[in-house]
Amino acid sequence: MPDVYNWHLGRNMSYRFEAGKTQRQFAAVFNINRCIGCQTCTMACKSTWTYSPGQELMWWNNVETKPYGGYPDNWDVKLLEKLEEANRGGQVWNASAPSDRAPYGTFEGKTIFELADGSQEQVLGYLPEEREYKAPNAFEDHATKFAARGASLPEHEGWFFYLQRICNHCTYPGCLAACPRNAIYKRPEDGIVLVDQSRCRGYRKCVEACPYKKTMYRPTTRTTEKCIACYPRVEGSDPMTDGLPTETRCMSACVGKIRLQSLVRTEPDGTWTPDPTNPLYYLVHVERVALPLYPQFGTQPNIYYIPPRWVPRSYLHQMFGPGVDDAIARYTHPSRRLRALLQLFRASRKIAFSFDVIEGPKFNEITVDGEKIELFDDTVIGYDSKGQETVRVNVDEPIHERPGKLNSI
Ligand code: SF4
Ligand code: SF4
Ligand code: SF4
Ligand code: F3S
Repeated sequence: MPDVYNWHLGRNMSYRFEAGKTQRQFAAVFNINRCIGCQTCTMACKSTWTYSPGQELMWWNNVETKPYGGYPDNWDVKLLEKLEEANRGGQVWNASAPSDRAPYGTFEGKTIFELADGSQEQVLGYLPEEREYKAPNAFEDHATKFAARGASLPEHEGWFFYLQRICNHCTYPGCLAACPRNAIYKRPEDGIVLVDQSRCRGYRKCVEACPYKKTMYRPTTRTTEKCIACYPRVEGSDPMTDGLPTETRCMSACVGKIRLQSLVRTEPDGTWTPDPTNPLYYLVHVERVALPLYPQFGTQPNIYYIPPRWVPRSYLHQMFGPGVDDAIARYTHPSRRLRALLQLFRASRKIAFSFDVIEGPKFNEITVDGEKIELFDDTVIGYDSKGQETVRVNVDEPIHERPGKLNSI
């Protein structure tokens, strides 16, 4: 198998195909700290793409409660156990020498591609049963005992968080590597991963292989479907978009303003072209405040997460790798530019290709963890694909007071 460079792992790895020649890559940052679990994103996707017969169990966007939730049931725990079984004690990181090309150090364990036998299977995975898709979110936040799902007090300790999940449009997709029909492809113009419905014969190797379980079988058509990254919106070809790249349905519907989407420029080896004016490049590479989900799986996923501050670090290390402590430290004490950029999340439907910050006057002083922090009323500006300004937001949000006399309600 060819060797490709995976910058999440900080090393080369074997993959079925050469690295693709993707010019840009669809990517997003989700700020877990802000999510309220309202599922508006989930319903925005469902009502757009998966409301037809045969799609009843399909949730291309789902939000699950960690540590107990999972759609399909316990998808991540099951795969982590399989990997550990195949490489006992070896799934470890060496984070002693991070660099620009290896920002989290080096993963010394084995990926889902490297632990496959290479003849019968291209990828180590598992095929969930239909019942495992049937009850997303059931009892996840429930405080009383339901033996069927196994969630009960006192197991729900003093922490939990919502994990928002869509297809990661991975740089090295497990689904694509596993399909014997070559029915899955990655678009060179934006890195979006799609299933060619005319080629798919329903072998479900892709369902087995996607470590995030984001390929889903449709019994009525006997083919597999998945998140299409709302590509007509990303292209600007949807009539609603005025011809300009527009955020996907799940992103633009987000009530908690936790999501920021962009397209990043990429190099032939799958790394990101340095560009600190791109908001995602800035968050992922300059500030390193947003991290990939389970980078050790090896697919180089393109949805990044600002980890939750209140969760035990060992849990987060397993989920997001060794960059967690730095990311939380930077999020808790943000630089002036980062604080301004955090205001750009969900500020415009138009995809921000670049951003700028104009410095403003000091308006407040607060104390965080005993440290005094000055707050400045800086302004962040988002620019679309043509370099035109689409939005500007201030750090100091204006307060609107109701008039003393109440209205008729
Ligand atoms: Fe394929 Fe899964 Fe990656 Fe999406 S998340 S590109 S379905 S491997
Ligand atoms: Fe659904 Fe579009 Fe979000 Fe994908 S990007 S989960 S297709 S709304
Ligand atoms: Fe979280 Fe936003 Fe989805 Fe609501 S819409 S569940 S805040 S990601
Ligand atoms: Fe291939 Fe998956 Fe279809 S393995 S044939 S894309 S079900």
